[in-house]
Amino acid sequence: MATTRPVITIEPCDPDEHFDGVLAVYRANDWSHANAPGRLRVAVESSSFSVVALEEERVVGFARAMSDEAFAVYIADILVLPELQRRGIGRRLLDAILDHYPMETFHHQVLIAERGADGFYRRVGMTPVGGYGLTAFIRSRGN
Ligand SMILES: CC(C)(COP(=O)(O)OP(=O)(O)OC[C@H]1O[C@@H](n2cnc3c(N)ncnc32)[C@H](O)[C@@H]1OP(=O)(O)O)[C@@H](O)C(=O)NCCC(=O)NCCS
Repeated sequence: MATTRPVITIEPCDPDEHFDGVLAVYRANDWSHANAPGRLRVAVESSSFSVVALEEERVVGFARAMSDEAFAVYIADILVLPELQRRGIGRRLLDAILDHYPMETFHHQVLIAERGADGFYRRVGMTPVGGYGLTAFIRSRGN
């Protein structure tokens, strides 16, 4: 018997409605942000634009971005529940962010790829900064 794949919708994130589910997605991916739910809530509420992937009422993915709303956008986090990865949800989340900040207006759509995620970003059309003759610099605690 054929199994039916869940219908996933992408919607703007409403922290009041979705935060518990968003936190669960960070926890499921073992991200350290989940150890500081209060700060994560501030981060979600303070992001310029964020989206959730929903399977009916359940949050199964999340992405957020910070922007000056004029020239630049920085994509901060994108996560999908481990059991639903590799089904196109990450691409749809990223597309929703990039569509909200179109290249015609925004010169730079920037992100830092976590270890293991660079293959995803290459696959969905992002280019390492070196490809533009640019250099990325960072200060980081390294975790
Ligand atoms: C990275 C992540 C968001 C990708 O989401 P996803 O729903 O699994 O990705 P998709 O199914 O939309 O993949 C889109 C394409 O990228 C490819 N892809 C996905 N992950 C990949 C990886 N790690 N390496 C290489 N290719 C990858 C898919 O095969 C797919 O290719 P296709 O269009 O040819 O079929 C997800 O793996 C995740 O949540 N990882 C843990 C959190 C994380 O590291 N986030 C990145 C923070 S920078």
